[in-house]
Amino acid sequence: MKIIRRKSDLRILTRNWHRAGKSIGVVPTMGALHAGHLSLVEAAHSRADRVIVTLFVNPRQFNKAEDLKKYPRTEESDAQKLVPLGVDVLYVPKPEEIYPDGFATTVSVSGVSAGLCGATRPGHFDGVATVVTKLLLQTDADCAFFGEKDYQQLQVIKRLAIDLDLKVEIVGCPTIREADGLAMSSRNLRLNSTARDIAPVIKKVLSEAATDIERGQSVRLAVGSARNGLIEAGLDSIDYLELRRASDLAPLETSCESGRLLVAAWLQGVRLIDNVPVGISSLSGAKHRLTVQSN
Ligand code: PAJ
Repeated sequence: MKIIRRKSDLRILTRNWHRAGKSIGVVPTMGALHAGHLSLVEAAHSRADRVIVTLFVNPRQFNKAEDLKKYPRTEESDAQKLVPLGVDVLYVPKPEEIYPDGFATTVSVSGVSAGLCGATRPGHFDGVATVVTKLLLQTDADCAFFGEKDYQQLQVIKRLAIDLDLKVEIVGCPTIREADGLAMSSRNLRLNSTARDIAPVIKKVLSEAATDIERGQSVRLAVGSARNGLIEAGLDSIDYLELRRASDLAPLETSCESGRLLVAAWLQGVRLIDNVPVGISSLSGAKHRLTVQSN
C-alpha cells in the first residue's frame, strides 16, 4: 500500500490506472478506523479494480474548534488496518492540497441538508459537501462508498454528485454494529462504562418504533414513545427523532413504502446518531415477499 500526500502524485497513478482500463473505488474517511470503515473498503474491493482510502480530518465540517482538536489522529494504526485488506493507496492530503491559499469555494446542498443534523450543526454539511467533492475529483473515482450510519450525509453526497455531473457512482453501505446493536463510531470510545451500557438502547428503541409504525401505529405516537424510551433509559437529551422519506429526507407524517427513522441524542456529553429503515420494504415475512414469476 502506497501512502500519498500530494494530489499531483495521486494524479499520475490514477491516470495510469484508467489508461490500463482499471476502475477506481474510493472510501473517504477521517481516520480512527473501525470495522464500519473497513466494511466500506471491502465493498469497494467488490466493485472496483483499485481501491483508494482517503484520510483527512476536515476542519470545515467541525462546528467547534475543541471537537476538531479532540478528534483522534491515528494514521499509523489506520494504515496497519488497511494493508491486510489490499488497499492500493492511502491518500493523506496535506491541508494545502485541499484548501490552498485563497480557497474561496463552498459546495452547499440545499433540501437534504436542512433539518436533522443540519439544524443542530450549522455549516457542517457545507464542509462535508465541499471536501467530498474535492476528494472525489482528486481521486478520479468511478465509485465511492459511504456508510448509511451517516444517512443524511449519504443523501447530501448523492445529491451533489447528481447535481454537479460527477461521473462517480455513490454507493451506500449498511451500518456495522457492535454485538449489542450499538452502531460503530469513533465516538463510542468516549463513552464511560455506564454510558456504554446505556447506548445500545438507541438501536433497540428505533427498531421497536419502526416495527410499530410498520404495523400501523401512528407515527406521532411511535416517535413519542421512542423519545420517552430513550430518556427513561438514561439518554440526557434528544436533538431529533424523526421519520423521513428515505430517498430525499422529506418529512413524513404517515408511514410510506420507504422511510427512515433517524435520531441524534446526547449521552453524558457524547452525541450519538443512528437510523433504521421503516416501511413495507423492511418488513419480513411471507406476506411481503417478492414473488418472481417465470414465463
Ligand atoms: P468518518 O466519520 O471517518 O466516516 C467515514 C465513512 O465511514 C462514512 O461514510 C461513514 O458513514 C462510514 N461509517 C462510519 N461508521 C460506520 C458504521 N458503523 N457502519 C458503516 N459505515 C460507517 O463521515 C466522515 O468520516 C466524513 O464526513 C467524510 C465523509 C470523510 C468527509 O470528511
